[in-house]
Amino acid sequence: MNAVPVKLGVNIDHVATLRQARGTRYPDPVAAAQACVAAGAHSITVHLREDRRHIQDADVFALKAALDVPLNLEMGCVPEIVEIALQVCPQEVCLVPERREELTTEGGLDVAGRSTQVCATVDRLLAAGISVSLFVEPDPLQLEHCAQSGADFVELHTGHFCNAEGAAAAPLLQQLVDGAEQAHAAGLRVNAGHGIHLGNVARILQIPHLDTLNIGHSIVSRAVLVGMETAVTEMLTALAAGPGTDP
Ligand code: PXP
Repeated sequence: MNAVPVKLGVNIDHVATLRQARGTRYPDPVAAAQACVAAGAHSITVHLREDRRHIQDADVFALKAALDVPLNLEMGCVPEIVEIALQVCPQEVCLVPERREELTTEGGLDVAGRSTQVCATVDRLLAAGISVSLFVEPDPLQLEHCAQSGADFVELHTGHFCNAEGAAAAPLLQQLVDGAEQAHAAGLRVNAGHGIHLGNVARILQIPHLDTLNIGHSIVSRAVLVGMETAVTEMLTALAAGPGTDP
């Protein structure tokens, strides 16, 4: 069962993508984040990638200073970025896998395979008072290692389900449901994200124990047409409507 409504974290990376495309000062990610918050977003997410393709270091510091909702910093488990996170001290960090050539985060973090490194980073972040989430596939072994790591949250990778068509989708949704049950039973809080849009969010809400959905590309894309506040309001309305089978 989900607490109703599930919270919305808006990922504003692609506001910065638009800015970086031309090397301008606009559009300003802080202004975009403030519009999201004005519309009711519960948190703001940015991914500081090693290649700095969209969000820049200065954006992260500016967002932390400007926002009165939690800032969730997505980042690879790499020393340079961990040091920046410890300086910014966002309310939340979500550790993700990162490959330079990928278009977006492709798979979940291999917490089982990189357990020593991940656990050391989780420890440092927790010691700094930062809440930690691990972005993983809904895989029983990965979730077991997440629980052992001491992280507060898992963020279940919804991308495979969101990209699936027809009959392929149902088993992928079931894996997310089972993953959420396992994580919750192990004492982890459960977020989810990747590839969520207005056409699949009702099925995503069938996943139990959800705290927050982190949604970026579809909201920023929609905002280009209807404005950020309307795009966020539409998604909040969908979250308030709860689970269903989608249009
Ligand atoms: N959660 C994580 C961990 C991600 O890496 C991303 C993509 O940056 C998102 C959520 C948001 O995904 P999307 O942009 O597809 O909504």
